[in-house]
Amino acid sequence: MKTLLVFQIFVSAAFGWRVFHLGKFWGPKTPVQPASSFPDLWFDQKLDHFDPTNSETWKQRYFVNDNYYEKGGPVFLMIGGEGKADPIWMEQGMWVEYAKQFKALCFQVEHRFYGKSHPTKDMSVKNLVYLSSEQALADLSFFIRSMNKKYSLSKRVQWVTFGGSYPGSLSAWMRLKYPHLVHAAVSASGPLLAVADFSEYMRVVRDSLATHSEECVTSVQEANRQLDILLRHRIGQQKVDKLFNLCDTVVDVSKNDISNLYENLAGNFAGVVQYNKDNRLFEGAKDANITIDVVCDVMTNSSIGSAITRYAAVNDLLLKTYEQKCLDYKYDNMIKGYQNVSWDSSTAAGGRQWMYQTCTEFGFYQTSTQPTQPFGNQFPLDFFIQQCSDIYGPRYNKELLSSGILRTNVMYGALQVEVNRVVFVHGSIDPWHALGITKSDNNDAPAIYINGTAHCANMYPESSADPPQLTAARHSITGLLAQWLQPSSRSVRFRPM
Ligand SMILES: *[C@@H]1O[C@H](CO)[C@@H](O)[C@H](O)[C@H]1NC(C)=O
Ligand SMILES: *[C@@H]1O[C@H](CO)[C@@H](O)[C@H](O)[C@H]1NC(C)=O
Ligand SMILES: *[C@@H]1O[C@H](CO)[C@@H](O)[C@H](O)[C@H]1NC(C)=O
Ligand SMILES: *[C@@H]1O[C@H](CO)[C@@H](O)[C@H](O)[C@H]1NC(C)=O
Repeated sequence: MKTLLVFQIFVSAAFGWRVFHLGKFWGPKTPVQPASSFPDLWFDQKLDHFDPTNSETWKQRYFVNDNYYEKGGPVFLMIGGEGKADPIWMEQGMWVEYAKQFKALCFQVEHRFYGKSHPTKDMSVKNLVYLSSEQALADLSFFIRSMNKKYSLSKRVQWVTFGGSYPGSLSAWMRLKYPHLVHAAVSASGPLLAVADFSEYMRVVRDSLATHSEECVTSVQEANRQLDILLRHRIGQQKVDKLFNLCDTVVDVSKNDISNLYENLAGNFAGVVQYNKDNRLFEGAKDANITIDVVCDVMTNSSIGSAITRYAAVNDLLLKTYEQKCLDYKYDNMIKGYQNVSWDSSTAAGGRQWMYQTCTEFGFYQTSTQPTQPFGNQFPLDFFIQQCSDIYGPRYNKELLSSGILRTNVMYGALQVEVNRVVFVHGSIDPWHALGITKSDNNDAPAIYINGTAHCANMYPESSADPPQLTAARHSITGLLAQWLQPSSRSVRFRPM
């Protein structure tokens, strides 16, 4: 549900920057709505679940909705991710419909280090050692145990976890690591395979643009070719300044600046593809009506001008949508933003924390390495690893990333994850499906692969514009929940001989 993404532009938008657009950040977007009727609640959580001698605690935020609960019903847990937890999800979204149907008690728990859940006094590198998916899963396990007590739930109560994007991964991993606490899990758009070079991301973006027309893809490719040529000489560079409304001139800039420029322009498209037609308006998403059709209609409209002029027109459209005056592509500005350790900084919306998780656990870098993608070849893996070192220090290098990724895949099993009563849901348009389970022979851990939908599409409220296969996917999930939550599977009757 929330979202991730990418642009490193620091703006005054809700999140304070555009990053959530692209790939670095996935997960639901931050709300523009006023606070809802679900107040902040606080849970005393341990700082370090893996050091029994550490007794430090902190306050973790959560929300509860008991409006649909009937005694004996299940408990649903929406897992927070790499951004602020949004109470709007306590009353809207598909899981709420499931809760009404199954009479579930609903909780949403904010992920440590995001939103208002601050385990430490700042986000210094020393403190970020407590930020990891393992600690987050352990947080949830203690939360479940404690709510069982607080609400006097029966020993046989069935908890079901929900999550989309990174929390989709966490949802599956909860069932894997804490099967005695979590009865079943719905995992939406969750990447399960950690990889440094996620070059397939841009390949799916390419294929998704091609659902509009091959001409859209070739036009993007031609625009990047024209950009390559303009950037070779001063007159061309000055033209690029104007075309793309750059905050700072691109004349004589560093290689990192150029990489960042290309990545930001690719990000315009990646963000649109990732959230194509997702029903996100209720979350306050400003870009909800910018779809693949909208940007591809521009890219294929020759009356706008040459390919690069159309590419610039798409950039203008997105700058306007995010209320930015100009495109800040400067590498040093981006790094400075990420280096701020204060909870009051704009990067505390999730950028610094999520980047740390990618540098230490996941990689997931959406590089330009894949040969058939149309966005040029200026943002290879090294560009991203350089960011890890520049933001957190030289120790955060390629070796640390590789061993962190290996560790993640060993710990959770990657695509060989061994679980039952978990459903993996993905959309074919969503680039993240490339790192998830989209096929399964195991009836106890089925995969639902939806043709033509984007990131976490099944989690959003239903809309009359939904394609039938999305509606069908939601019904399949209802069916699985009904099967998994059958009273008969709750207890084994003792029969005297
Ligand atoms: C999207 O919606 C906004 C607000 O409703 C509107 O001003 C804008 O023109 C729309 N953009 C597109 C591309 O449809
Ligand atoms: C192409 O762009 C022109 C100029 O902006 C616009 O008037 C026209 O409606 C566009 N055509 C299509 C098919 O979108
Ligand atoms: C970090 O961000 C805060 C809040 O925006 C700001 O006051 C502070 O000056 C920033 N710190 C640095 C080192 O830039
Ligand atoms: C997915 O949908 C597209 C467009 O409706 C269609 O052309 C294609 O055949 C579908 N693919 C599958 C595997 O059903």
